[in-house]
Amino acid sequence: SLGRQDIFEPDEGPDWGPEEEMLTAKGRFEEKRLREPYSATEMGLIYVNPAGPGGVPDPKLSAQEIRFVFAKMGMDDQDTVALIAGGHAFGKCHGAAPEEFLGPDPSSSPIEQQGLGWKFNYKTGKGPHTFTSGFELAWSPTPTEFGIQYLRLLFQHEWEIETSPAGKPQWVAKDAPEIIPDAHDPHKRHKPRMLTADLALRFDEEYAKIARRFLEDPEGFERAFARAWFKLTHRDMGPKTCYIGPYVPKEEFVWQDPLPKRDYDLTDDGEAEELKERILTSGLSISQLVYTAWSSASSYRDSDRRGGANGARIRLYPMNQWEVNHPEDLKKIIEVYEKIQREFNEKQKGAGSGKRVSLADLIVLGGCAALERAASKAGMDLRVPFTPGRVDATEDQIEVGFYEAIEPFADGFRNYFRDPAAIDEGDIYTTPEYLLVDKAQLLKLTVPEMVVLIGGLRVLGAVYKYGKYGVLTKEPETLTNDFFGNLLDMDIEWRQADEHRYLFEGYERGSGALKWVATRVDLIIGHHDQLRAVAEVYACDDAKEMFLRDFVAAWDKVMNLDRFDLRTKG
Ligand code: HEM
Repeated sequence: SLGRQDIFEPDEGPDWGPEEEMLTAKGRFEEKRLREPYSATEMGLIYVNPAGPGGVPDPKLSAQEIRFVFAKMGMDDQDTVALIAGGHAFGKCHGAAPEEFLGPDPSSSPIEQQGLGWKFNYKTGKGPHTFTSGFELAWSPTPTEFGIQYLRLLFQHEWEIETSPAGKPQWVAKDAPEIIPDAHDPHKRHKPRMLTADLALRFDEEYAKIARRFLEDPEGFERAFARAWFKLTHRDMGPKTCYIGPYVPKEEFVWQDPLPKRDYDLTDDGEAEELKERILTSGLSISQLVYTAWSSASSYRDSDRRGGANGARIRLYPMNQWEVNHPEDLKKIIEVYEKIQREFNEKQKGAGSGKRVSLADLIVLGGCAALERAASKAGMDLRVPFTPGRVDATEDQIEVGFYEAIEPFADGFRNYFRDPAAIDEGDIYTTPEYLLVDKAQLLKLTVPEMVVLIGGLRVLGAVYKYGKYGVLTKEPETLTNDFFGNLLDMDIEWRQADEHRYLFEGYERGSGALKWVATRVDLIIGHHDQLRAVAEVYACDDAKEMFLRDFVAAWDKVMNLDRFDLRTKG
């Protein structure tokens, strides 16, 4: 389908992880685990090292890496086998000679080279003398046609390790005749060859089962490949409403975060007011309402336009079991919302009205109601925008494996960090404050938006486990700019409070009394020069209204990040 946008410069927002050294797994894939939140095991590669983890040609270990990485792309074992086997039905690897013949990278190359890629100074540097990956092999006897040949060879032969002309470990079928055509010389033939990552499909038990099934059912393989390919090339476009043009398939896929069609009328402003009142008298606290709305909407990630409040997937497995979503508390909150929803919808039905409210809308509306109440407690009159129209997804409309794989481990907005022992101040990538920036870019936030949201969420008490970390106010659940004033207060001296340097305590200088406890994410707002500049503005006595206005605008932006249904196509 059509609908992608062209950009004119690289997106510098995403956290690609440590970029100090090419082709290293350092800081990414250590102790057989892919470090959160990364999706490639080595710097500079999109998936895994083709030669096996760290260049060690072990197909089973390679399978483990592949499984991690493909799960991050939302691919299960079947998708993975289909994609690799289908992709490597075509083409070849290029590694005609050692890497020392390779020129500088394109932007460091002489000006007359005009951006035409990496120059390889071995013979012609082209055709049979090409170098890209450093492996030299082709997989299939018919490398311009889709088919089952790759899988057939993979299982038919015994594989022996060898070294490519460029010096990389690869595998050759020792008992096979020379049946692979040369890419350039019609008279030449080669033995079948494979990468370590290819052999993973044979030597990993789960992959092998699928691969053998494909071998027996080539049409099934073709179908699985077609579906996985469509997913690979469309999964970051977001829901189907973002597709345009004549090729949009009728079929819906669970990875598109599908939503049911709304078959009822929407609530108007009057009914929204009525529902807000009902929510505020339901027994749920301001922090619960704010935390739930935020948790629902901030699951959005702009990198693949998935998640968000629409669908109310927060109440479905596995999002309802994410630690940061307070599973037990969430269950009770959802029950309250369900009751309110039932009562409202039954009343409307009884009155012959076609109006209904979704749980997804109620959760967001609950957030609006709580903000308005918290502002009135601060003596401010506030109206938080609300646009109904969200619908509720069903159990079969959530991609379980994917949402399991992306469970948050760090979320500075909710002051949540799963494992403070993992913090290493000498390695910025391990710190909660660094990961906060990644979360902020996934939510498309600017620097001031990020800062104002944190300040607001903290005073509302919308922090993990409704604890006290970062709640720098004497009047929690009141929408004030207190967080900033207290964070920047020169009378407070901050001291390390735990061995991991995650928590800090704020003591009053004169009396020595303990006043606050905060995390690194709170303190970075006073420490980092740009963040501090923003915090200083919001801390001002005459900035109360501005704080409120900016907080609500940023809040509303997050609540609607996934509302593609409200935007016109084009
Ligand atoms: C574990 C995952 C994978 C690894 C480690 C891997 C590795 C590689 C390597 C090293 C090359 C050679 C590049 C060169 O020397 O020019 C290559 C080529 C290729 N790969 Fe993959 N690949 C993977 C998955 C895939 C997938 C999922 C597809 C597509 C569905 C795919 C399609 C291709 C094609 C078509 C070529 C040939 C390119 C050409 O002829 O120039 N690969 N792959």
